[in-house]
Amino acid sequence: MSLLITNGRIVTADEDFAGDVFIENETISMIGRHLSLKADRVIDASGMLVLPGGIDPHVHLDMPFMGTYSSDDYATGTAAALHGGTTMVIDFVIQTQGKSLRDALVEWQGRSNGKACCDYSFHMAVTDFNENTKAEIASMVNDEGITSFKTFMAYKGSLMIDDRQMAGLMEEVKRHGGMVSVHATNGDLIDFLVTKHRAEGKLAPLYHYLSQPEITESEASGRFVDMAWQTGVPSYIVHLTCEGALNQIRRAAQRNQKVFAETCTQYLLLDASLYGEDFEGAKWVMSPPLREKKDQKALWGGLDQGSIQVVATDHCPFTWDQKQKGKDDFSKIPNGHPGIENRMELLFSEGVNTGIISVNKFVEVTSTNAAKIFGMFPKKGCVAVGSDADLVIFDPNEEHTMSAKSHHMNVDYSAYEGWKTKGKTKTVLMRGTVAVEDGELKVKPGHGAYVKRNKVNGII
Ligand code: URP
Ligand code: ZN
Ligand code: ZN
Repeated sequence: MSLLITNGRIVTADEDFAGDVFIENETISMIGRHLSLKADRVIDASGMLVLPGGIDPHVHLDMPFMGTYSSDDYATGTAAALHGGTTMVIDFVIQTQGKSLRDALVEWQGRSNGKACCDYSFHMAVTDFNENTKAEIASMVNDEGITSFKTFMAYKGSLMIDDRQMAGLMEEVKRHGGMVSVHATNGDLIDFLVTKHRAEGKLAPLYHYLSQPEITESEASGRFVDMAWQTGVPSYIVHLTCEGALNQIRRAAQRNQKVFAETCTQYLLLDASLYGEDFEGAKWVMSPPLREKKDQKALWGGLDQGSIQVVATDHCPFTWDQKQKGKDDFSKIPNGHPGIENRMELLFSEGVNTGIISVNKFVEVTSTNAAKIFGMFPKKGCVAVGSDADLVIFDPNEEHTMSAKSHHMNVDYSAYEGWKTKGKTKTVLMRGTVAVEDGELKVKPGHGAYVKRNKVNGII
């Protein structure tokens, strides 16, 4: 099977040129100008951008959390990802404390096998680091291609590990060529503030926000950065939201330490004014919470300067009905929000079309850097001969309005309801197969494959 994309504007992390892309089976086999090749199908991309498929390295599909499951499973979540121009996601396998990493992996394989529409991989979240867990790290890296290990400095009592465990994990992961990532907020201080607010009868979504002030994130980010410095492990901070945490990365850079960081679409575009005394704010109850306008400014700056390398989503949707679990107590609202489908279009509209970031930077932070950081480049994350033909044909000018009525995520509200955007995913190729066209999904669950990732060294 061959496919020729003609007359596109091909944009990569460092190039921008007019050309054609020839695909044979799953792979890009030629790139050039006016290629006169016979193909089974020709797609005219005049007026369109041809981009590497988006990579979202932070999603939670069918995730057991806070007494329920995130509402997108592998079929619906990856279908929605494709509609938005994301062709690869990395989900988190989460160890149950007292059980093994292998147990958790088997559980996640059971939920994902044969169901994904786009390609996917796993990070391993270590919630209980001990001698048994330590002995499993090598096999995760070498046999399963799981080269990134997530930690939680928050969610005290369920997912949180202490600093002793963190340091032990870092040392072991470094030994085997992996990376340690972190949800960096101070779990003890948050636990204290949650308890205090509840005792005072302050139970609205606003108090979710007030229980996780900026210092809970900046302090934990700094502590994580210091432990990574001490152990020398490649490191990555997930969903960085605020100026204080960003400054910890800048501090590390001053001593020539490289710490990778990801922010998410919602932290760039939404702010804490959405939380109030009524329950509406539950839609945006996530951890860390949305921050202030000054933090948005810092995050855009961090992206532009290269201190933040990735924009992900932390897609973890819960229906409005599921959110009602916390109707009378913010601490019971399932944490998370939907965004997997919106990321590329929102970032293009609000970042590129407004002139804040370049189109090359857009490609870098939505695809290429994640591929490099997480050991998938150049198979993923670029438009190059030999790479997987994961491509997005994108109209930079088409306007549309985001709404739960038209999105494909399995959730009955949109975090961006009524948001007008300019820039739209038109056609998506997933390893050479047309996966989305004319707003329709063309692949079936099971088309997506598990991607084993290479070892990482903290250099991109
Ligand atoms: O609120 C969030 N972010 N839910 C998903 C779990 C996590 O902390 O990433
Ligand atoms: Zn988190
Ligand atoms: Zn998350």
